[in-house]
Amino acid sequence: MKKRMLTGLTALGLAASFAAMAHAGTVMKDGPTPYEVIGGMSVPKPLTDKPGDPANGRKVVANRKKGNCLACHKIKQMQDFLFHGEIGPELSDIAENMPADEMRLRMANPKVVNPDTIMPAFYKSKGLYRVMKKFKGKSILTAQEIEDVIAFLRTLK
Ligand code: HEC
Repeated sequence: MKKRMLTGLTALGLAASFAAMAHAGTVMKDGPTPYEVIGGMSVPKPLTDKPGDPANGRKVVANRKKGNCLACHKIKQMQDFLFHGEIGPELSDIAENMPADEMRLRMANPKVVNPDTIMPAFYKSKGLYRVMKKFKGKSILTAQEIEDVIAFLRTLK
């Protein structure tokens, strides 16, 4: 009797710790600043305190040395740029299909969502090898640029 109760308690304790694990985030430390991933899907907390600027986000998306998103994604609202790739899904109505917290992880490190993706991790600065000296320790985009791109993506509907 006593033994059975103890086993029951242990099971309860285990269930509780699994529940806690599901809620607790994973802190990613491979970028310029750490950020917390919840449920392997989303980064709810913005990377900066300053709200994103959609106009600058649009520029970062188009810039071949920064986001270069059009190399892989079609965005109808950016017809002023000629070439749009089709390697990734079209983003013309992404605001209706994906919340900002999930966009943030896609931008920061899409490999957390899909280890096989060819989309670059825009907020990864550590664990890269063979990077040119001037890029050492730097991510492709800054925290603010990522927030700006998210603000722009939020306008795509
Ligand atoms: C080298 C190609 C490439 C580049 C450059 C690229 N992506 Fe992607 N992206 C992909 C692919 C492929 C996917 C499909 C999902 C996957 O691979 O996991 C994707 C998925 C996404 C998704 C999720 C779309 C959905 O409907 O699920 C978003 C949002 C996104 N990319 C935004 C961006 C933004 C913004 C940029 C520029 C800052 C960018 N991507 C640059 C290839 C790319």
